[in-house]
Amino acid sequence: MCGIVGYIGPREAYPIIIEGLKRLEYRGYDSAGIALFDGSELKVCKTKGKVVDLEAKLYKEISSNGSIGIGHTRWATHGVPNDVNSHPHYSNSGNLVIIHNGIIENYDALRKELIKRGYVFKSDTDTEVLVNLIEEVKKQEDVKLGKAVQIALNQVVGAYAIAVFDKTQPNEIVIARLGSPLAIGVGKDEFFIASDASPFLEYTKNAIYLEDEEMAIIRLNKDIKIRKIKDDSLVDPYVQALKMNLDQIEKGGFEHFMLKEIYEQPRAITDTYRGRLNREEAIIKMSSVEDNMKKFLAADRIIIVACGTSWHAGLVAEYIFEDLARIPVEVEYASEFRYRNPIITEKDVVIAISQSGETADTLAAIKLAKSKGAFVFGVCNVVGSSIARETHAGAYTHAGPEIGVASTKAFTTQITVLSLIALRLARAKGTISSSDFRQHLLEFEMIPKKVEKALEADEHIKKIANIYKDVHNFLYLGRGYNFPVALEGALKLKEISYIHAEGYPAAEMKHGPIALIDENMPIVVIATKKGHYEKVVSNIQEIKSRKGKIIGIVTEGDVDVRALADHVIEVPETLEFLSPLLTTIPLQLLSYHIAVLLGKNVDQPRNLAKSVTVE
Ligand code: AGP
Ligand code: GLU
Repeated sequence: MCGIVGYIGPREAYPIIIEGLKRLEYRGYDSAGIALFDGSELKVCKTKGKVVDLEAKLYKEISSNGSIGIGHTRWATHGVPNDVNSHPHYSNSGNLVIIHNGIIENYDALRKELIKRGYVFKSDTDTEVLVNLIEEVKKQEDVKLGKAVQIALNQVVGAYAIAVFDKTQPNEIVIARLGSPLAIGVGKDEFFIASDASPFLEYTKNAIYLEDEEMAIIRLNKDIKIRKIKDDSLVDPYVQALKMNLDQIEKGGFEHFMLKEIYEQPRAITDTYRGRLNREEAIIKMSSVEDNMKKFLAADRIIIVACGTSWHAGLVAEYIFEDLARIPVEVEYASEFRYRNPIITEKDVVIAISQSGETADTLAAIKLAKSKGAFVFGVCNVVGSSIARETHAGAYTHAGPEIGVASTKAFTTQITVLSLIALRLARAKGTISSSDFRQHLLEFEMIPKKVEKALEADEHIKKIANIYKDVHNFLYLGRGYNFPVALEGALKLKEISYIHAEGYPAAEMKHGPIALIDENMPIVVIATKKGHYEKVVSNIQEIKSRKGKIIGIVTEGDVDVRALADHVIEVPETLEFLSPLLTTIPLQLLSYHIAVLLGKNVDQPRNLAKSVTVE
């Protein structure tokens, strides 16, 4: 959510910041802006719209450049997306500029106080309050920028990643974080600042990730000083060498990141189980699970917390854990869990699932579970992310960077990790026989090839997409393991095509949604061979009797559904617990093609953000 980029060093700051903002576009935003200092003048240019709109405006408005600057993509929380509310925001004196990701919750009280002291506000944002608070502190306390930022942040309630520049101290940028990520790229005589490492990967692979409640003063030709915001103690900067490559964050010949990521799934799933699943020796080895085996085996239950697509992966995991490992599982929306005074004990294992590892609600749910004594295990994609650090232990998905806002490969790799854990625990508990275990591993290894096969239906799916692209509603039905897949299919369609879609357990249809069915309603039904097939076929009969249009996701060679459905999309046969890894593929492609045919912005759908760092 929102992007921050900054530069201080010998190069021209402008191209680094603009290209960096483009790399962060995937995070979701509605406006963009930049502040550049050319040695004497501080210039700000900002606009509602995209980074290309900012470029066009800059071309007209700013001629001078400079080698220090900060840039921002805003995802509006306080005040509509317009030019004035866009960041950077000046302080009243015009000396300070700020960019901010997050929410200052007590902004209203602070604003009233500042108004009493004569401050005027141009925007509706909470951010403009913060920059003026820093200015006021600087004046009142007669301190330098770094100290003023620190004192001001101690008066603030909320979440933030900020970068502040003061033209009276033009050799430094002050940054701070609480709840929103910030990385510092360390080059030779130069520093980069960004919400993630992608904006500076081509310049340096050395990065420092700021921790929550830390701030840094980044000075030209000086060492970085990192301090704790609360107690002022100095922190030793930990510089890590990044393993990420530039080609991982580029489109690689695909029209959209989402399509690239859909097609990457065979590789991503393989990377995720590689080194963990050993078929020859018939073992699953995951060090974080082995190290905590006692806790897993003693658990009364597993509580899974997550949001959105990750929550859907959690629902699939519920079926897998209960079925294979016979451990009771509850799956909770992190946002509900954190506020409903849940009963959590030391005997609970909490699994938090998050692609970005930065989702504010999931992070808060983890902190709550930890405070009640539960053991918290993370399943994250982004290495070193806040959730990965906040959990007691965890296992990464190895999907590689996911740039498309609509999650695809993150979902299938999350299911991969969770299935591996469930199988490992099932083996340890003896709830699976050794021959079944071997067979499950064998089938697991065949999944990437089967995903490739499922992807071959792409052209066929595109034709179906063309037939239904103009409808206003879709229904997705599935049972058992494929009920969460139906939910995920509906979410994908909503997110990128803006067509209303509902996912339901197939049998629930008769308790309500069946009233919606007429000859205009397309219904995607997951009807693979092993998932209560006959029952689902009966549900399809019920739809057909009401003239609904049926798109069946079926097992290769299916006859019964083919005879009833308007269209079928085949996926290879597999074991039931692995079927979501295959049935998800056509649903991803269907929503992708519908969105493209409707001319929607597939990778950056309106109103959405890739990592949701606000509540
Ligand atoms: C998925 O397509 C969504 N954009 C969204 O629901 C996402 O899954 C959710 O915000 C959770 O994100 P996380 O996995 O990074 O925590
Ligand atoms: N709360 C700030 C605003 O509305 C920052 C939002 C963001 O994270 O982009 O401007």
